[in-house]
Parts: sequence; C-alpha cells; structure tokens
Amino acid sequence: MRQSSLVVVAMRLPIDDDVARDGACEWRRSPGGLVNALHPILQHTPTTWIGWTGSTGPAPQLPDLDSVRLHAVPLSEEEFAEHYEGFANSTLWPLYHDAVEQPVYHRKWFQTYRQVNERFAEAADACAEPGATVWVQDYHLQLVPGLLRERRPDLRIGFFMHVPFPPPELFVQLPRRAELLAGMLGADLVGFQREQAAHNFAQLATKVLGARATDRRIELADGHLVRIGAFPVSIDMAELAALAQRPEVAARATQIRHDLGDPRRVILAVDRLDYTKGIEQRLKAYSELIAGGHVKVHDTVMVQVAVPSRERVAQYRILRDRVEREVGRINGEFSRVGEPAVHYLNRPFDRAELAALYRVADIMAVTPLRDGMNLVAKEYVATRFDHTGALVLSEFAGAAAEFDRAYLVNPHDLDGLKGALIRAIEADPADVAERMRAMRAHLAEHDIHAWLHRYLTALDTGETLVAHLKR
Ligand code: ADP
Ligand code: G6P
Repeated sequence: MRQSSLVVVAMRLPIDDDVARDGACEWRRSPGGLVNALHPILQHTPTTWIGWTGSTGPAPQLPDLDSVRLHAVPLSEEEFAEHYEGFANSTLWPLYHDAVEQPVYHRKWFQTYRQVNERFAEAADACAEPGATVWVQDYHLQLVPGLLRERRPDLRIGFFMHVPFPPPELFVQLPRRAELLAGMLGADLVGFQREQAAHNFAQLATKVLGARATDRRIELADGHLVRIGAFPVSIDMAELAALAQRPEVAARATQIRHDLGDPRRVILAVDRLDYTKGIEQRLKAYSELIAGGHVKVHDTVMVQVAVPSRERVAQYRILRDRVEREVGRINGEFSRVGEPAVHYLNRPFDRAELAALYRVADIMAVTPLRDGMNLVAKEYVATRFDHTGALVLSEFAGAAAEFDRAYLVNPHDLDGLKGALIRAIEADPADVAERMRAMRAHLAEHDIHAWLHRYLTALDTGETLVAHLKR
C-alpha cells in the first residue's frame, strides 16, 4: 500500500460513478459542494483521496488522477441502503437541516453506519504515512476521527462538517448522540461553516459528554484537546470568473437567452433536488407573482435546474413528484404555446453550461430552508464580473453570513419571498451593482484558497501543505 502525507477521507470520490464503472477514469467532478470545494488542493499536494465510487459491490482499482491517488472503499447493497441512504441521508441529513423532514431512526442503521465508518478508518490507517495529516469530511463519517485516533495516535486529524450542525434540542433526539459526538472529538480540529454550529457543538460536548468546552476548544476527560471553529467554505472564484468570461460561454449565454424567448428578465435557481432547498416554496412564490399580475410570463421567465439526488430515498421521491406536479400546474395554468412559465431542467450540466446559465440570470434565487453554505450562491457571484445580477438569498444558508448585501429572505415566509423577488426584479441597477461589487470583493478575499489556508494552518500541518497552497 502506497502511503501519503495528506489523506482526504470523504464519502464520495471526486469522480462520476459512470467514469469509475467502465474503468476509464478521467477528472470529472461530480455535482455537490464538497468535491468542488476540495478540488484545488488536489492539484498541488501529493494526496490520497479515500471515498466511495457511488456504485455497490467490490471496489475497483482506480488509476491516479494527476498527483492524487484514489482509494475506493466498497459498499455492499445493504450498506448503501443502511449507511448512505439510511443513517446518513434519512436520519442525520434531515435532523441537521432543522428537521424540515422527519428524521427516521432505525437501530440497525447505526450499526451499519459504524461498520462503514470502521472501513473508512481502516483505509485511512493503511494510506497514511507516519505523522500524516488526515482530513475527514462531513456527516457520513462522523465516527472516523475517533476510530482512527484509537489506531493511530501519531496522526494529525481534522474533521470538517459541510452541513449545518444543529442546536442541542434537535441533536439530543439522536439515540446514539454520545458516540457521534465522541467520534468527531477524535479530531484535533473540528471545523464548521458557521460560528453558531461550533457553539452548538461545544454546548453538546458539555451537556452530553461532560467535557469542558468553550466555542474555541473542548477538553476531554482524558486530556485530549480539540480545537473548534467556523471556517466557511468557498469556491475557486478566479477559475469560475475566467470560465464565465470565455467567448464560447458568452455565446452560449446569448443562445440560451434567445431560446428562452429573449425575455426582459430571467430568474434562475440551481439546486440538487433536495427538500432542504426550498424548491416548492420558490415555485409557489413565482406562480403567485404571475397570478397576482406582478410578473408577466413573456417578460420574466423562470429557469429551475434541479439535479436528481438520492433518488431511492422515499422523501426525495415524494419531493420530485411534488415539484414536478407543481411545475406542471404552473405551466398548465400560465404558459402559452412555445412560452413556458417555468423551464425545468432535471439533469446535471458541465461547468461551462452552468457558467452560461449563471450569466443569463438577472435574478438568482437561492432560497434553501436550511443549508450549510450553498456554493451555488457563491458561484453566481463569481460569474457576475460586470456587476449586474441580483442575488435573492435565504437567511438560512451559511452564505448569508457572508453576503449581507444580497436580497436576504426568510423562505418560509411566502409573502416575504415574493416581496424579495419583486425588490430584486425592480431594483435600481446602481443598487444592484453596488451590492454585487460588495459581494464580489468579499468573495475575492474569502475564496477556496483562503479557506484551505485558514483550515490547514489551524490544523497546524507544518509548512509543507500551506506552502503548496501559496503557489
Ligand atoms: P449541496 O452541497 O447541498 O449540493 P451547494 O450549493 O453547496 O449544495 O453545492 C452544489 C454544487 O453542485 C455546486 O458546485 C453546483 O455548481 C453543483 N451543481 C448543482 N446543480 C448542478 C447541475 N445540474 N449540474 C452540475 N452541477 C450542479
Ligand atoms: C452535500 C453534502 C456532501 C454530498 C453532496 C451531494 O454537499 O455535504 O457530502 O456529497 O451534498 O450529495 P450526495 O448524496 O450525492 O453525495
């Protein structure tokens, strides 16, 4: 087994399942914030990335991707159902997102969750050279830091939670809450998207485990010290801005606008088809704006991109049916021949097509009910190099803590949501430009490189990793 000085452990490998299946592995980023966020570090540091291909059965041998070694962890059909779809995405995911859907508790799921976490910890043990840094990602693998520390006290272990970390009142619902907290506390540094999440975590460590905790550090009974804090994740702004300015992307944007009927305004939404994203509320707000005569379909068009996600999980299937019924209802009621009110696109797109769509959007509606960060909001801002474009942003997205110049909105408040859309639609271009300038200035300072630098410096990985990032 080849060993590395940096090991990233994430549920997903940074490749598409189709690519992995036929063995012809090439750099193809799968949709989802985590993979896109970590992409830059991989190009500059000798790293092993441990993850799952997205398919069940034996793990394939994968070729290196540039300097990155890919180590696939297998999942059986049962583990897929009970770990990924079960405990991760039907228990933790809804609970961590304000329980906007009811979390489902099954004892068996937790056993399988632990079993899969043990497999990831074993793989990290095998791939990490002595004294290496291991960086564990997200809610699928919360037990890995603790399991790994037991095996390998020589390692420096980081954990980063990409999704929200809930208030104690919600977290304590979890039947295995103490084990989940102790698992995360195996790390040297636990990072969150927002200060509030670090605060919630500290409170829980005290309440559930009796640890001594502040919002910066947690001291366990055995003397192990864990630092905690907020490290809001970001994107590669320069890369995306450059892509958005390419002539072919500009041409594609013009073409899309033309295909939409050259409307005066385009409202765009881009989400995974997930019940946390507020898709139904947004569609309803738009349809009420049409019904109330505030917008005319030929004049203000809505494009909803909704990439399929976790399709076998019941709550996601139900959501898809409901969203598609609502799109059908709106189009049935308000479209004219050749002039749909909502353009609904239910598939993945490559980065250039997404950049072209962002360029077309006069108004970007990012209105999740709860979201750890929401990179789509940041991607939109990155592509608006001419300072046009209004961002309507949910207060409940992590991005709202950074983009206070967006048109902020409570997506549960339908009238408020309509009001924010109208304000964005009718805004004075000078106001729009001033807001976009402020958001772009913030993003330029707080891009993915700044995030990686801050986190890895805090993890105190020594000079090497940080030096790589400066290049
Ligand atoms: P989440 O992490 O919950 O999926 P984010 O907004 O943080 O939400 O990240 C979503 C990522 O997935 C973004 O980088 C976005 O560009 C990408 N993405 C969203 N929709 C699509 C799509 N239809 N095709 C390809 N990538 C997409
Ligand atoms: C969010 C999670 C990631 C996850 C992604 C896509 O960004 O934080 O861990 O990979 O959604 O979801 P999926 O279930 O397809 O991996």
